[in-house]
Amino acid sequence: MLRFLQWLARQELLLRALRPLFGRFNPFLPEHRRDPQSTWRALRAAGPMYRSRALGTYLCTGYDDVLEVLRSPHFSADRSAVPAMRWIARMARGEPDFAAMLERNLLTIDGEDHRRLRGLVAKAFTPRRVEKLRPRLTGVVDELLDRAAENGEMEIVRDLAHPLPVIAIAELLGVPDKDRDRFRAWSAALVQLLDPFQGRGGSPPLIRATKEIFTYFRPLLVERRANPRDDLLSAMIAAEQDGRCLDEVDLLALSSLLLVAGHETTSNLIGNAVLVLLRFPDERKRLQDDLSLLPLAVDECLRYESPIQLTDRAVVEDCELSGQPLRRNQMVAAVLAAANRDPAHFPDPDRFDVGRQENHHLAFGQGNHFCLGSQLAKLEAELALGALLRRFPDLSGSPEPPAWRRSMIIRGPEAVPLVLA
Ligand code: HEM
Repeated sequence: MLRFLQWLARQELLLRALRPLFGRFNPFLPEHRRDPQSTWRALRAAGPMYRSRALGTYLCTGYDDVLEVLRSPHFSADRSAVPAMRWIARMARGEPDFAAMLERNLLTIDGEDHRRLRGLVAKAFTPRRVEKLRPRLTGVVDELLDRAAENGEMEIVRDLAHPLPVIAIAELLGVPDKDRDRFRAWSAALVQLLDPFQGRGGSPPLIRATKEIFTYFRPLLVERRANPRDDLLSAMIAAEQDGRCLDEVDLLALSSLLLVAGHETTSNLIGNAVLVLLRFPDERKRLQDDLSLLPLAVDECLRYESPIQLTDRAVVEDCELSGQPLRRNQMVAAVLAAANRDPAHFPDPDRFDVGRQENHHLAFGQGNHFCLGSQLAKLEAELALGALLRRFPDLSGSPEPPAWRRSMIIRGPEAVPLVLA
């Protein structure tokens, strides 16, 4: 099934022929990848809820509706009861590591299981622990830029945006430097957990990567249990709430999730941010002249070009949203990227403003599943953009990348070539 979906997502001619089935929303076409906001505007103009027959889901684009979907108990991140999603569970049959990974994947569970896991991991993954990474990550950004500066040009995704988040997660968890390349390969395979249409080869690469990650972390957990250090892995092992701790499978599933959730997303935030600064030179100059605006600018990049465009939920019981009756087990996609440009919520939403105040964007979601790594992602983006603008004030490049990621969920460039001098 997965292999078929991935194949279908690449058949442009067939997808164009199926236009009546896709209606206003065909996320697989290059025009959508180039300019998703045009699609979101068209859907918003058509009404608050858009039914995609081809994808078997409703899409909501308004800020308030998106908030409602993310916060209300009528909607669940657990899609396992939705008939059209059962193939995912079937993939896990006979694959204990992969099944465990799915069962404890924070992003797709809800209720007591989610509360328990999230409560424990949040005790370990604290703002203080993230802040402690600042000096080390500052050094890492400098090293990556030093290497690029030697050539007078760089490709942002390859040289900075892609390596930095993997190094950050490896540092955070406390895994040895020498294993970073393996992390990168695993993350590339696990990205299908965020967007099943991405990638090729169906489920085998995903299942293989999960097995390898679990095999890698099992002895490391034993070692950290015996000799705790000042790292997230040791802190997760020690975390305790109401007399309960994370067991081995919890820890394995969480480590894999942190790797994939923290890599692709942050990497695309940095790529998108550089592109958007190239597109709006006056805003870039404003930022360059006053780098204290960096935290606001990063939030504005998250709002303007949200790395996660949408997230979906299953309807738990019959209900209504913006006048649209919804039946149990129907799917609803909350389009974060559309909510982030909703004119009813953001004044002048299509204006990129590095000093935007009161920027309550939804790029990190909301409610019970609000991003656990938001602070780390912002820290990485601030360090990366700050260093880039300080060291290479005259950098130049095209604001249109050679290609965008082939994904309906993740928004980001495949590459961003820059001339530094
Ligand atoms: C720019 C970077 C990032 C963006 C845009 C982003 C976005 C999101 C969004 C939208 C969600 C909620 C998904 C939903 O409700 O279905 C989420 C959840 C999550 N994120 Fe992030 N994320 C980023 C970086 C990170 C980082 C760096 C980490 C960790 C190292 C991380 C770990 C997580 C985890 C564990 C969850 C699941 C939380 C839960 O379900 O309780 N994220 N993220």
